[in-house]
Amino acid sequence: MAYKCTNCGFTSVEWLGRCPQCGEWDTFARATPTDNDKAPDEPEEVADEKPRPLSEVSFDRQERLSTQIGELDRVLGGGLIPGSVVLLGGEPGIGKSTLLLQVAENLAAEGQVLYITGEESARQVKMRARRLGLSSDDLMVYSGISLEKSIKHLIEIDPVCVVVDSIQSIRSLGGSTLGSTKQVRELGQRFTRAAKSREITTLLIGHVTKSGEFSGPKTIEHLVDVTIYFEGKRDSNLRTLRPAKNRFGSTRSLGLFQMKEKGLEEILNPSRFFSTNSNHENQPGNVTVCSMEGTRPILVEIQALVTKASYGGSPQRRTTGLDYNRVSLLFAVLSKRNHLNLEEFDIYLNVVGGFRVSETAADLGILTAVLSSFYDVKIPKETVIIGEVGLSGEVRAVKNLKDRISETEKLGYRTLFVPANNQGLNGTELSLNLEKVKDISDTFSRLKLEV
Ligand code: TYD
Ligand code: MG
Repeated sequence: MAYKCTNCGFTSVEWLGRCPQCGEWDTFARATPTDNDKAPDEPEEVADEKPRPLSEVSFDRQERLSTQIGELDRVLGGGLIPGSVVLLGGEPGIGKSTLLLQVAENLAAEGQVLYITGEESARQVKMRARRLGLSSDDLMVYSGISLEKSIKHLIEIDPVCVVVDSIQSIRSLGGSTLGSTKQVRELGQRFTRAAKSREITTLLIGHVTKSGEFSGPKTIEHLVDVTIYFEGKRDSNLRTLRPAKNRFGSTRSLGLFQMKEKGLEEILNPSRFFSTNSNHENQPGNVTVCSMEGTRPILVEIQALVTKASYGGSPQRRTTGLDYNRVSLLFAVLSKRNHLNLEEFDIYLNVVGGFRVSETAADLGILTAVLSSFYDVKIPKETVIIGEVGLSGEVRAVKNLKDRISETEKLGYRTLFVPANNQGLNGTELSLNLEKVKDISDTFSRLKLEV
């Protein structure tokens, strides 16, 4: 005999005063065998499958569907695999609905697309579509929170693609509480089964909680083919797409967007976007570095501001877009090797454009920016600085140097500081000047950053 919570459906072998799942009091009742516990693995939405030789499994529609959004296609590994299930996670307000409405419109060129929303009314979706300038007749909207009805419409319409916005807002009749782990998992399973057996490409939206974990959605990550996070800061319009799992491609790619008045716009040339290699002179404290984002080299500008600390107070250290611990370590190396007393100074470091640089190849650029501000000496324009800094101040080799060199060359920079001991420096003819540096002092003296 089992007991069941009448509020959320949680079952237990003993009677409980308070439900551990939904937290309600006095909701447990005896569960009768006729209760709505339908065998979970016999869903009506699955087409009848029988075992068959692998060689007989048809494999015709394997080419990928393009979302017509290059940054997204790349993160997916070259477009959507028909019939695959993709989970898009992100904090509320980051732009998930906006991105997938744009995708839905683009895919409607291939056939009908169903946009199921449990979060907004059809009118609200229409308002967003108008703002984005979308108007396809093959984009069908269904606003509702019932899983059963959603699946029924999905089967009836049999679209090329379905968007579910969001997995936390749709529930099964007689199922668990809205947004609970159990409910999210059931929903994930039912949509995945329906989609797989009919080759309907499925895009699920999942909210990530403030603390950053993928709480509800995380529980269905094993069911889906691709999981992508949509990230960004409130105060910046930069948005990044990062794959966390991809059965059909690499998870080392990155998609970049800007949230604009009329929706999301791709950043097609990130190096131009994050660096200001323009005709005007660099200001003291500005240095361009080249950071790898997965397989993609991106030129990024780092800015440092070093000012005298107020007397007697502890010096301020602020970093935006850089790893604070790494930066502290670099300051220690600089103090020790160059006999600088940084204790008397406030230091602020910032990465231009809201980008995050997490690579040690930016080390040398960070220290150069700090010294450039400290001595108030400009770094010559059209210079890029690459190198990891070791504890004794030596400049260490970085990976993918060839790719970084060609990106720097492509963008018209003239001088590139690189680790002297790096592999891949010889051979090709270059239109830029390579400064091969051994350690930080060597770098600083070539840039005249000395007293
Ligand atoms: P939304 O897609 O609703 O976010 P999510 O589904 O992840 O919760 O986007 C919300 C924000 O994006 C909102 O603050 C308004 C802004 N926005 C734009 O700046 N431009 C646009 O064209 C749209 C549709 C939204
Ligand atoms: Mg939304």
